[in-house]
Amino acid sequence: MSTNKVNIFDTTLRDGEQVPGCKLNTKEKIELALALEDLGVDIIEAGFPISSPGDFTSVNEISKIIKNATVCGLTRAVQKDIEVAAEALKYAKRPRIHTGIGTSDFHIKGKFNSNREDILLRAIQCVKWAKNFVDDVEFYAEDAGRTDNDYLARVIEAVIKAGATVVNIPDTTGYCLPNQYGNKIAYLMNNVSNIDRATISCHCHNDLGLATANSIEGVINGARQIECTINGLGERAGNTSLEEVVMVLKQHKDLGFYTNVNTKELNPMSRRVSDVMRMPVQPNKAIVGANAFSHSSGIHQDGFLKSAITYEIIDPVEVGADISKIVLTARSGRSALAFRLKKLGYDFNRNDVDALYEKFLQVADNKKEVGDDDLHQMAKQHETVEA
Ligand code: KIV
Ligand code: ZN
Repeated sequence: MSTNKVNIFDTTLRDGEQVPGCKLNTKEKIELALALEDLGVDIIEAGFPISSPGDFTSVNEISKIIKNATVCGLTRAVQKDIEVAAEALKYAKRPRIHTGIGTSDFHIKGKFNSNREDILLRAIQCVKWAKNFVDDVEFYAEDAGRTDNDYLARVIEAVIKAGATVVNIPDTTGYCLPNQYGNKIAYLMNNVSNIDRATISCHCHNDLGLATANSIEGVINGARQIECTINGLGERAGNTSLEEVVMVLKQHKDLGFYTNVNTKELNPMSRRVSDVMRMPVQPNKAIVGANAFSHSSGIHQDGFLKSAITYEIIDPVEVGADISKIVLTARSGRSALAFRLKKLGYDFNRNDVDALYEKFLQVADNKKEVGDDDLHQMAKQHETVEA
């Protein structure tokens, strides 16, 4: 795989929407699909058409309005699922059917009460069914993270031979360590004879907090598509977060990869998804959390005010976030206090700030955060005493 472009496959409308309480209606799905296209994602997984009439309609309507991105529908390795997905996608300019089956022994025995040879045949069969409708067929080997590499390579080689254009290697349970997941991708690159005819995709879940790291390791080892969601939404602990992988690839230019995502839209998009899904974003979430560009300890504030790069690796403007914040707490120092007073229009000298700082600490010890009103009050009192 010679290209350095990493395709971004957004599954907010499918895996993300599986989060309890995040269900979307067709109107909401259309709104988000249009926003995802504007963001610059390459593939939009719009839903699982056979799962409900509402989801069928959503995929169908999204197919009609999306102009540039590929629109994808999920299926099981079931003929009827694939026929319904094909019908839902029939207006799409670039339709993709995403079909597959569990390949780990946990799934083969526990879910299907089957054996490896039978699952291999079913994998080939579902790709062939999908190929009757669309050129672009993505195969997922569910629970690939816990699938024996040798068997996985056999399945992947066979589905590519059957016509799969993309092969998805999900770490469905979020079990793998980054080096294990990276080695799995490397193993496929080295042991699947026709791997040059398909794109390898990473689909990592976050059960151990490793989804982003695993996806990046996947790309380093040969994958060229990442499946991810806005705000990392998804089953259980979520999927790989789109904003994180995009910014890792952008910040680490040394890796030599790029995506088509317009990073200035990352924060607006995160807020939009959070609003529509009514799912708050944790304040300490990387890139899009409310505190991602806030500095509150004295040591950090002092360094940041002297030179932003001391404590910030990303310019908030680059990701469409509000400008960096200097938050005043009992851990803040004099330079932060002076900075905030100046922003409010007060021009105090060093002795004034020293005096005000004592008062500030008394207030700060009794509050979680010292706000502009508190500062005005302290400043006015100080001016009166000095007058
Ligand atoms: O996590 C997973 O394995 C999935 C597949 C259906 C792609 O979501
Ligand atoms: Zn998933």
